[in-house]
Formats: sequence, C-alpha cells, structure tokens
Amino acid sequence: MNAPVHVPVHVPRPVGLLAELTHRCPLGCPYCSNPLEMDARTSELDTQTWLRIFSEAAELGIIHIHLSGGEPASRRDLVEIVAHCAKVGLYTNLITSGIGLSEERVAELSRAGLDHVQLSIQDSEAESGDRIAGYEGAFARKREVARSVTAAGFPLTVNAVIHRANVSRAGAMVKLAIELGAKRVEVAHTQYYGWAKTNRAALLPPRAEAERAVAEVEALRAQYKGVIVIDHVIPDYHAHFPKACMGGWARRTLNVTPAGRVLPCHAAETIPGLEFWNVREHALADIWYTSPAFQAFRGTEWMLEPCRSCPRKEVDFGGCRCQAMALTGDARNADPVCHLSPYHDRVEAIVSEDTAAEAAPDYVYRRLQRTPAPVA
Ligand code: SF4
Ligand code: FES
Repeated sequence: MNAPVHVPVHVPRPVGLLAELTHRCPLGCPYCSNPLEMDARTSELDTQTWLRIFSEAAELGIIHIHLSGGEPASRRDLVEIVAHCAKVGLYTNLITSGIGLSEERVAELSRAGLDHVQLSIQDSEAESGDRIAGYEGAFARKREVARSVTAAGFPLTVNAVIHRANVSRAGAMVKLAIELGAKRVEVAHTQYYGWAKTNRAALLPPRAEAERAVAEVEALRAQYKGVIVIDHVIPDYHAHFPKACMGGWARRTLNVTPAGRVLPCHAAETIPGLEFWNVREHALADIWYTSPAFQAFRGTEWMLEPCRSCPRKEVDFGGCRCQAMALTGDARNADPVCHLSPYHDRVEAIVSEDTAAEAAPDYVYRRLQRTPAPVA
C-alpha cells in the first residue's frame, strides 16, 4: 500500500470525494441513489480507516469532502471524522436527511469544524413529504433541523428531488427552502438508477408536467436572484443532450462506499465486469490513477459512434455510462437520452409507457433494515 504511485501526467487530480459513511438510514426514499444491495453495518469501515482515507484525500489534492450515506448522522464517530477532516484542511459538507441530528449534535459538529450542511426535503407539504420519505414526522423534524443548522451559523443548502408526486410543487419547494433559511437550493429531477429505476413507473412525471416544473423553477431563479442560488438539474428523460455525468468519468470525483470500495460514481457497480479496488488494500491515489474501474471510461478513447466523432464529446463525455448500460446493455454507448443515440427511441418509449397509467403504482421503499416509524 505504501509503494510510490505512478502519477500519469494526463490525469487530473480529483477535487471532491463523496464518503458514504453508512447505508443505514431511517428514511426509505424510493429514489435513493444507494445501490439495491447495500452494505450492512458489520461491513462498514472503522473510524481509523476513514481518518486515513481523509488524510490521503488531502494529500491527493482533494478539496471537498461530502459526508453522505445513507444517513451519515447514524455514525457515532461523525464528529471525530469532521474534526479530522478540518485538521487536514478539507472542506466538509454534511449531506443529511436531518433525522438523528439533534441540536446538541449540530453544536458539536460546529465546534469540530464542519463547513456546510445540505438537508434533503421530500415535498413542501407535510403529509406528502412523510409519505415519500416513508417516515412519519420527517417533514416536521426537518424544519427543526433547519432551524438549528442556521442558528449555529452554517450555510444551508436544501436538496429537493422532483418526481411525479411533487412535480406540481417544484416552485413551492424552492419557496420552502427560502423559508428554511437556505442560501442555495438544488432542484434535481430524479435520475433513474438503482432504487429510482425500480420505482420508475411511480416516479416519472408526464412530459408536460416536467416541462411546467422546469419553467416554474427557472422563473423563480430570476425572481429570487440575490436571495437564494438555484441549482437546477433538468429532467434527463426529457432532454435533447445528456449531462456530463460526474463531470466525466474519473475526471473530478470519487465515491467511497461504507465497506470501502472506491467507485467513479454512485451507480458504477451496475456496470458488469468493472473491477473496483478497496481502500482496505490500496492507497486512494493508487486507486484514482491506476485502478481498472477508473481507467475504464476515462478520456474519450473508449467511445463508440456517434460520440467518437461528435463535437460535444469533450463537453458531455457521452453522458452517463450507467444510464447507457441500463438502457442499451453496453456502457460504451452514447447515453440514450441524447437525440443522436441510435437507442434514443427507447427513452421515448419508456416515457410513454411509464406515464400512461393515471394512478402511479405504490413505492418500493429503500430499506436496509426495519425502521422505527414507517408510514403504512
Ligand atoms: Fe454527447 Fe455522444 Fe450525444 Fe455527442 S453523440 S452529444 S458526445 S452523447
Ligand atoms: Fe454512473 Fe452516471 S451515474 S456515470
């Protein structure tokens, strides 16, 4: 693990690391980005290993650490982890559902040097918010957490994931974020991997409703300029070109799972045949520069047509590899969201099929284990 790492000159250093500290979470959001097969508590990395990873991350040039999960507050060592990140000079962002974050814990995190908090909301209305989260009382709890987070002086970002059940309230969710004291709101239409793919027929909104929501949020961006920053991830399945997923494969960020596997993106394990290295056996720098999974789709050499000869290939890097895999069976294909993809009609067909039924099917909630207060 301590052998010198060969640093290829053409590979940029990563800027961010998403640390999935645990897959445990009291909520059951049906669009969760965690994999369908989650890491059990018994397989989680211990505190010392996480601290080593963060030291290595700082040496590698990483600037931002996103402490995520599951629910990162489920880890008893969260304060110790934050204090270590601060000590080695990393900017820390806590991505939380808010559940398990008492006022006292928020104060401890502040003393430990936490820089920023990102709080998820499921809807602007309590009943629907609780139903989406699969947890009674979640909405009210989040309000309290937002209050203690802003009172402690943290900059707050609100995450709002948009789908069929709340698409008509996208604007109301932005207004709720302002009311909660957020300086930034991330409005992201659901991305259909993992749990969201399982629940796609329940989550995908009809095209007209998605377009209405996009227009509403864009209008609010102008209206609330200087009050709140609105980051808007528009709906993939209704787009003309794909997004540059992860800013391009293995170009900017890496994900560490609770059990220590290092991935180029949260859904990378859905691509068969990739070899992921684990921080228990390899140094982070070694994984970034030389591990097979990170090399697999780095740059543009691996591309097939139409991406290979497309002028946008260094703009969107062919879109999302995981989506190409899920919808075409080959991760090297252009993301079929792209109108130039020969598989684009599959996206059109999914949109028509999944939005045809008037009533959405029930959710398959994301569950690792039984939770204290599930909504029936
Ligand atoms: Fe992007 Fe490939 Fe579509 Fe070109 S063909 S716009 S590179 S996904
Ligand atoms: Fe894996 Fe987009 S989620 S590349």
